[in-house]
Amino acid sequence: MKTVLKAKNLSKWFGSQDAMVHVIKNVSLELNFGEMLYIVGPSGSGKTTLLSIISGILRPNSGVVEIKNRNICELNDDELAHFRLYSVGFVFQDFHLFPRLTSQENVAIPLILQKRDWDESVEEARKYLSIVGLQHKAEVQPYKMSLGEQQRVAIARAIISKPEILIFDEPTASLDGETGRKIMNFAKNDILNEKCAIIVVTHDNRIYNFATRILKMEDNELKGALNVELEAFKN
Ligand SMILES: Nc1ncnc2c1ncn2[C@@H]1O[C@H](COP(=O)(O)OP(=O)(O)OP(=O)(O)O)[C@@H](O)[C@H]1O
Ligand SMILES: [Mg+2]
Repeated sequence: MKTVLKAKNLSKWFGSQDAMVHVIKNVSLELNFGEMLYIVGPSGSGKTTLLSIISGILRPNSGVVEIKNRNICELNDDELAHFRLYSVGFVFQDFHLFPRLTSQENVAIPLILQKRDWDESVEEARKYLSIVGLQHKAEVQPYKMSLGEQQRVAIARAIISKPEILIFDEPTASLDGETGRKIMNFAKNDILNEKCAIIVVTHDNRIYNFATRILKMEDNELKGALNVELEAFKN
């Protein structure tokens, strides 16, 4: 299988001296195309910080993040912005949608930032909204939509630029069990392919059975795979 991500010896701390918080301690990780990797672990263990580093939102204090053999830690700010725009889709826990733009405008944003024609981008956005079953809500603003619908708008926006790495931070935290399962089922069966890998951070053991691999974050370190638990959830 082809490797998309190699993270080596990542460390991240905030503050200095007495007030220093060491949030990521020497974390290494590899991810292949076609994988749906879950990272689970207690609140405050550093999961969101790790996702932010992998996706180029935050720089590590030490270590390397290679995406397709390119070290993104060496990129300047413009190059990093380009990388984020073309290679990464991030579905934030609280969606980060623009409440007053319509859902099709929200989904079109990555293409518009890529300087594509406005009308063409919105047309493309409508296609992606129909992929997530929301074609009938294309002109509705997110603040008038349910949480599950907003989540799907956020997913459409994250996948419209066909990213190589798709990141979900607590994707089902605010959803009921059935909607959560539907969304993860959709991610696994309709988005995941040989040109894409998905990382999911979650506390929600109702959706563990969609993972192809589970790692555990504990005490700010990445611990071994939870295969035993994964098998149990699959049965
Ligand atoms: N910018 C920052 N400055 C100082 N401390 C920070 C900063 N960002 C994160 N932290 C601290 O790092 C620790 C890990 O945070 P992080 O958000 O990565 O945890 P998490 O595992 O995602 O938790 P949760 O499951 O609650 O989302 C927390 O103790 C947090 O307070
Ligand atoms: Mg978090």
